[in-house]
Amino acid sequence: MKNRTKLAVFASGNGSNFQALYDATQDGRLDAEIVLVITDKPSAFVLERAKQAEVSAFSFNPRDYESKQAYESMLVEKLEEAGVEWLVLAGFMRLIGPVLLTAYENRIVNIHPSVLPAFPGKDAIGQTLAAGAEMAGVTVHFVDEGMDTGMIIAQRSFPVNGQNRETVERKIHDIEHQLYPESLQQLFNRQQSV
Ligand code: GRF
Repeated sequence: MKNRTKLAVFASGNGSNFQALYDATQDGRLDAEIVLVITDKPSAFVLERAKQAEVSAFSFNPRDYESKQAYESMLVEKLEEAGVEWLVLAGFMRLIGPVLLTAYENRIVNIHPSVLPAFPGKDAIGQTLAAGAEMAGVTVHFVDEGMDTGMIIAQRSFPVNGQNRETVERKIHDIEHQLYPESLQQLFNRQQSV
């Protein structure tokens, strides 16, 4: 039997997507193992979630390093040590640089709360509402050097219909928590059949 795909989840905040992915690995919807949580925010709630789930976590402060290249080289070492095969970004608020992109070429994915290519970058939900867009939604995509520009893997959308921010946000998170594990499972299935 093939070993389960080993993932590292990168997050900077609450970590509800980490939780959804972790839960999916536990109930069999996602045939993978989260072996490491990485955060650039030592106070991020995702660390509490990782602790509860008994998943190893590593937090670092980018300011302690000379450059992005320096901290990414340190991360590659940690990731390789843990046998990580895929990087799963879930609310990680930093652009990925050449060191990680090279080490994990075509094996870094992200989830973004808009129907890309519309509204990349920060506060995508706020951008969607401020623009009066008809549709809100979620995109799972590969990560490249740009800001939310990598190849799209999956999208799901719904009409905004004058709903307030709280409602739109809740719907987006509900979609994210289903779509991320689902699309990762499909991606890993495709990888195994080639
Ligand atoms: C999610 O909306 C995700 O799409 C975006 O950042 C948010 C992270 O939420 N990239 P959480 O920390 O997983 O709760």
